[in-house]
Amino acid sequence: MSNSLLKQYKEKLKLLDKFSKHYFQNQKPLVSDKEYDQLKSEILKIEKNYGFTNLKSPSVKVGYKPSKKFKKFKHRVKMLSLSNAFNEEDLINFQKKNINFLALDKNYEFEYSVEPKIDGISASLHYKNGKLTIGLSRGDGEEGEDITENLKTIKDIPLNILHKDFPDEIDIRGEVFIENNDFKKIEKDFANPRNAASGSLRLKDPKKTKLIPLKFIAYTFGFNSNIKESKQSDFIKNLDKWGFKISELNKTIKGINNLVKYHSDIEKKRFTLNYDIDGIVYKVNDFNLQKRLGFMATAPRWAIAHKFSANYSITKITDIDIQVGRTGALTPVAKVKPVNIGGVMVSNATLHNEDEINRKDIRIGDTVKIERAGDVIPHVISVDKNLRNVNLKKFIFPKKCPCGFDTIKEFNKVTKKIDAVRRCPDIGFDCNRIAKEKLKHFVSKDALNIEGLGKKVIEKFWDLKFIKLPDDIFNLNFQTIARLEGWGPQSAENLKNSINKSKKLKLDRFIYSLGIRHIGQENAKLISEFLCDYSNFIKLKDQKNIEELSNIDGIGETQITSLKNFFKNKLNLKVISSLSKILIFEKNVIKKMEGAFSNKILMFTGKLNNISRAEAKSIVENNGGKIVSNVSKKLDYLVIGEKPTSKKIKIANDLKVKILNQTDFEKISKLRQ
Ligand code: IVH
Repeated sequence: MSNSLLKQYKEKLKLLDKFSKHYFQNQKPLVSDKEYDQLKSEILKIEKNYGFTNLKSPSVKVGYKPSKKFKKFKHRVKMLSLSNAFNEEDLINFQKKNINFLALDKNYEFEYSVEPKIDGISASLHYKNGKLTIGLSRGDGEEGEDITENLKTIKDIPLNILHKDFPDEIDIRGEVFIENNDFKKIEKDFANPRNAASGSLRLKDPKKTKLIPLKFIAYTFGFNSNIKESKQSDFIKNLDKWGFKISELNKTIKGINNLVKYHSDIEKKRFTLNYDIDGIVYKVNDFNLQKRLGFMATAPRWAIAHKFSANYSITKITDIDIQVGRTGALTPVAKVKPVNIGGVMVSNATLHNEDEINRKDIRIGDTVKIERAGDVIPHVISVDKNLRNVNLKKFIFPKKCPCGFDTIKEFNKVTKKIDAVRRCPDIGFDCNRIAKEKLKHFVSKDALNIEGLGKKVIEKFWDLKFIKLPDDIFNLNFQTIARLEGWGPQSAENLKNSINKSKKLKLDRFIYSLGIRHIGQENAKLISEFLCDYSNFIKLKDQKNIEELSNIDGIGETQITSLKNFFKNKLNLKVISSLSKILIFEKNVIKKMEGAFSNKILMFTGKLNNISRAEAKSIVENNGGKIVSNVSKKLDYLVIGEKPTSKKIKIANDLKVKILNQTDFEKISKLRQ
């Protein structure tokens, strides 16, 4: 590209930025829509012809940049997400798991509160004595941004509620969104209505937010002082009475068949609605059952989002790439001729694993059907063999990892079958591919959460040999980074600050960040609660201390073996040791639940009547106690159900551990008088 063309291109970008600012921030367009669009397409044309882009380009930048200057506040009750279901089978499993958890009859039918899943931005509104005091964005679920003034501009949000039965103190939660006809007016600044809602909600000046016709629909609560309702459907009715907007599609339904029917009815009329919905949410209606079911690490057990089915398109495979994940899994990815699927350009689609390629006999050059559902990675569904060129060769899956190691297929002890996934056997940082993925995981949102160090930046710093191991991130040279193309002193400074900020973290995030196979967020939390601090974590160097972790309910042989392999690796130990000198571990303030089992250690043997093990565990934990799975001197109570292991009772007797039967247990935990 000649210098003069580059100059022209940059000038056009600058002009577009000016027009966007005036249009979006000041609501005073400088040019007509037609002129604006013309300029935008000129920019895109230059980019297409010369095969490059720029961070300020409309092809990269979406909408107007929201402000970063909001104060942050902790949510008193975390704002969690929802697990997803994609088909009837997922729903059957969801219901079965809950029936087991609650030890109900296998034919039990839950009543569900059924609500549309509005595709907007969630917000939490805190009311004290009927007055809206603070409104927060979801943020990372634990801490949100104070966007009170912007939220107050939304007409659907009541500022004062005078009803006598409105709780003294409550967080009302719901979705902020923009209706499709309103979106049309600001469409050129945003990729979709969701981005428009998010961008306008986070503008610095609430007067500007007020100009955007945002809407709010309420559907749940967070912290509350005195909720009187016993069902979600009653709570929603009261939301309506108190002056909130609720969805006209809310219903109560029993039976999976009926859920599926409602889902398909709504899916059919989805595009006639004036706002985007991306699925239906089913919530166990009874608050008592909700309370018993409780939460997993990131979502409640008592609710699920049933997503709408995917959009699909037909295209051609141009190549098959082998990607190596952080746990060594070799995933084949089809490179396809770019196609638009439901508004998103798709050029990659996963082929899952070697067995899947063989089963479907997928070849480079094949014409395939590709599906994309919501935020899930697009995947190849089927091959049109009628359109296959006779010369296409069968795809031979490589037996070596691109790093050079021979790959393996493991034997799965549970399914008693050889795994479909081929793996690179490295568990440290020796395989370059795994090491790079581990770095991406290390900085990701649920791990060290280093803002500004996304996947692309990691790739770039890796290629430039700035980083190889996680601790290298803390020794980056920011002067060099400031001189890189696309960077500058300010962005280097920002990165430096977010890296420094990430040094202080909780032990569970650290354990999760190491990317140990089978140790996800939930297990990392369990281990960190058991170990309490880093000094105990590092003792896992000694393999016999790892065995101790089998005492944790939820940690089994698979996790123990994986931890043992991880700690056997010298490079892993070196990385942990270097990181421990850099990181500062926040005290593990385990929210101590006060209750009948405060500071007590319990163990169960035998089957309990009408209470599943999982629920018994949650009862003990909610009452301040801990569960282990080995009898030792430390044990306070051994709870005995039907058909207990007599050896355990004998050891407990020898160690003078107090023994409880189910009635004793229920009395102490106040489940019965
Ligand atoms: S309940 C603990 N109900 O979906 C349960 N969420 O993936 C919290 N959403 O962050 C959410 N419609 O932004 C709930 N009727 C509905 C919803 C809904 C949309 C969004 C919400 C949440 C996300 C979870």
